[in-house]
Amino acid sequence: MTQLLLSTWPEVETYLKRSTGIIIPIGSTEQHGPNGLIGTDALTAEVIARAVGEQEQALVTATISVGMAQHHMAFAGSITLRPSTLMAVLVDHVTSLARHGFDKFFFVNGHGGNIATVTAAFSEIYAERSLHPQGNRPGVRCGLRNWWEGRRTEQLSRELYGNALGHHATPSEVALTWHAFPHAIKTAAMSPKIAPSGSFTDADDYRRTFADGRIGSDPTLATPEHGRQIFYVAVEEVAADYRRFLAS
Ligand code: NI
Repeated sequence: MTQLLLSTWPEVETYLKRSTGIIIPIGSTEQHGPNGLIGTDALTAEVIARAVGEQEQALVTATISVGMAQHHMAFAGSITLRPSTLMAVLVDHVTSLARHGFDKFFFVNGHGGNIATVTAAFSEIYAERSLHPQGNRPGVRCGLRNWWEGRRTEQLSRELYGNALGHHATPSEVALTWHAFPHAIKTAAMSPKIAPSGSFTDADDYRRTFADGRIGSDPTLATPEHGRQIFYVAVEEVAADYRRFLAS
């Protein structure tokens, strides 16, 4: 059994005798343009994390499916945690699991907007230990791996989509959800074909600049077959990084 939610506590105790590593998928619940699923970032992180868990016989927690998405809040269906709330959620996840003996926490992330907050939460976790009056507590190590960042995964996305890959509601993440959830494929007309690129501040500013939610992408190029290819390459690369993380 590699999913925490489908395990019993004696199974987790047994697992801890052979590994103290655990995989935590983290995503977001936010608009992904006219044809992308609200759950794209949570679903992509989850399917990849679970496949890596199966392959590496590593325990995978439930997905943290709401992330830091304040800039998407002008689109219906989006949910955000404040950065401070998300940090508290992450610190409590790690602290809970560390109490049982886990000490290597590998976050598989589906949302670029989470990166700064997740990294700050890692510093908070380390600081709690570094500042402990009785000296440093037994160490824990946290790692963040964005599923799309492997060399071959990036290369494949570039080959498939070129400059239509963009930064948000990308055809590669949309394709990945279509491979994993073929019953949820949506179609929508989009204009302009490739969305504008640029920066943003809050939710209203985002919607003014990126009217349909996309940034720099053309997700009409996505196909379930692309998603299948991206899935297998990403799982292979994330699994290799998990092995390196455990060995570090
Ligand atoms: Ni996304």
